[in-house]
Amino acid sequence: EKGGWDSFMDKEIHEDPAAVQRTLLGRFDKNGDLNLDEVHIDEHDFKAIDKIIVIACGTASYAGLVAKYAIEHWVRIPVEVELAHEFRYRDPILTPRTLVVAISQSGETMDTLMALRHAREQGSKVLAICNTQGASIPRESDAVLYTHAGPEVAVASTKAFVAQITAAYVLGLYLAQIKGTMFRDEIHQILSGLKDMPRKIQWVLDTQAETIQKAAESMVDANSFLFLGRHVGYPVALEGALKLKEIAYTFTEGFAAGELKHGPIALVDEGEPVVFIVPPERGRNVLHAKVISGIEEVKARGAYIIAVAEEGDKDVENYADVVFWRPKCPTLMSPLVDVVPLQLFAMDMAKLKNYDVDKPRNLAKSVTVE
Ligand code: M6R
Repeated sequence: EKGGWDSFMDKEIHEDPAAVQRTLLGRFDKNGDLNLDEVHIDEHDFKAIDKIIVIACGTASYAGLVAKYAIEHWVRIPVEVELAHEFRYRDPILTPRTLVVAISQSGETMDTLMALRHAREQGSKVLAICNTQGASIPRESDAVLYTHAGPEVAVASTKAFVAQITAAYVLGLYLAQIKGTMFRDEIHQILSGLKDMPRKIQWVLDTQAETIQKAAESMVDANSFLFLGRHVGYPVALEGALKLKEIAYTFTEGFAAGELKHGPIALVDEGEPVVFIVPPERGRNVLHAKVISGIEEVKARGAYIIAVAEEGDKDVENYADVVFWRPKCPTLMSPLVDVVPLQLFAMDMAKLKNYDVDKPRNLAKSVTVE
């Protein structure tokens, strides 16, 4: 079943490109426009949506956070991302024009299921982004957009994450298309960037594995890691930190790089490994410069810098001790590649410590209790 890989996690990380590709399949009409008839929400209802609330847990919530940056930019409506277990206990503001998007790989997460029931009771429509046909969450939702990542067996979610981002982007671009918040050409251009991503993820798998393995070997005894990113790099940092704590049992913290000087920099000491997600140099130059200055600050305090950065980034080359390279791609697409080296890194670390990467201690694949 593992198809020649020595763990499901290994196999599933290598299915990241296919997960993105399959999630895009069948979602276009013959003119290359998005077609979401399968979702069964009529165009009129979709057009009326004036707010999105994503409810999810763990990795799925980080996919939602990535999508927030993209959808707010494309569709110009507010997108809130809420941990499902917090959502229903805080009297959230829901109207019939709020679209609640429940993201779940398994479709059985009880916290998410209870939150979606609450949203529907309050009169909001719920759309599920789910990887499991016929599971409770899609069954109880008004509409479903399936991710087609294929069954995910390893407890640590990998290919489902990239598929969830892809599906949420499809939803966002579809809303932009029917609400007319972007030109058709612009949407087509973004979609063609999205269709290129499986090839770019494959490039990371083919060319970066050795560097990642060596990095894991050199850091296997580290007691803690900090993960930092800005903009869409922020949820990627959170996800990288979660992977490492979940399967390598290493204490990690992920946070927004801009927060460094508001507290976390006090943690940085000689030799502390700090992982930076560095945005592409083009387009969002301001953010690139800001992340580089964050690197300089922690470097000055003796930190060991691991960077995920765009090929050819000279600033990163100058400062980082280890770099996992990404091929050039638009900023909003970068999470789809940037998470991949972090998945591999966590897996390599766990294997070096002889842990069972597919079944980490204390965890279940789907959390069916509240
Ligand atoms: O099945 P779900 O997507 O609803 O699961 C949500 C979380 O429990 C899940 O993503 C969890 O955080 C993973 N083990 C992370 O790798």
